Amino acid sequence: AGQNPIKHFLQFSDFTRDEFEYVIERTKLIKRKFKNYEVYHPLVDRTLVMVFEKSSTRTRLSFEAGMHQLGGAAIYLNTRDSQLGRGEPVEDAGQVMSRMCDIIMVRTFGQDIIERFASHSRVPVINGLTNEHHPCQVLADIFTFHEHRGSIAGKTVAWIGDANNMLYSWLQAAEVFGFHLNVSTPAGYDIDPALVKTDRYTVFANPSDACEGAHLVTTDVWTSMGYEKENAERLKAFDGFIVDGAKMARATPDALFMHCLPAHRGEEVAAEVIDGPQSVVWDEAENRLHVQKALIEYLLLGRIENK
Ligand code: CP
Ligand code: NVA
Repeated sequence: AGQNPIKHFLQFSDFTRDEFEYVIERTKLIKRKFKNYEVYHPLVDRTLVMVFEKSSTRTRLSFEAGMHQLGGAAIYLNTRDSQLGRGEPVEDAGQVMSRMCDIIMVRTFGQDIIERFASHSRVPVINGLTNEHHPCQVLADIFTFHEHRGSIAGKTVAWIGDANNMLYSWLQAAEVFGFHLNVSTPAGYDIDPALVKTDRYTVFANPSDACEGAHLVTTDVWTSMGYEKENAERLKAFDGFIVDGAKMARATPDALFMHCLPAHRGEEVAAEVIDGPQSVVWDEAENRLHVQKALIEYLLLGRIENK
């Protein structure tokens, strides 16, 4: 521990703009190969282990399918069925898993847990969501923006709702890619300044004002995993923060709508928006698969040309 030269993806700021540009280019190529039924197996005999301490649909599916498509294998572990649930230290789990597998994805609670895990791993560790960050989703979202509208640099993104893992990853992305965030959260659910190292954002008390002129409007659940006990209280506090047609009308006419899913129609987003013409939520979900294949390829094989 301490002198580990292994490259991890534990939060968005772990990669430079240049590394992301490379991963985005590779994603385009890997997605095209897949759509053309072209076999691409650079990771034969390689294994990804996925450790889930929280539920998942998209993250599990995209990592598992992606590793299979790259010619490798993926193994799913959860807290209940592994020794992690019986108190085996994460440091020991990191040591052991990295002796048997080539790359590891972890979805857990505090960011400190994945950091301790990674510091004892001999292989790359990817953050599949913690309380503080969800970098793979924001990478997929930026790739999705790129496909629909080109570079996100210089654009304005409106974040409406909870100051959660998605927002903190968006804030890191704003610093890396050079765009601006308009943020509106209810009183008492504001940004924790200790988690933010950028000034590329403006806070708005009124969520409709935050949407003004935005090129992308995005939101997420009001109650993230691990905060279920606060659900009733949050429903009250977030009243008025729904992303509906009236708020979208304040954004630019060709603004996109994104949501990492799962979504609650009638809470954080109106059906007219998530199921409407500006929504790209299904592309975001699909692109998890393609960006993560490029990410795994980069972490295991480094930069490769013309393949
Ligand atoms: N967006 C996302 O990470 O979804 P899951 O919780 O289903 O993995
Ligand atoms: N903020 C949500 C994202 C789910 C993919 C959560 O942490 O539960």
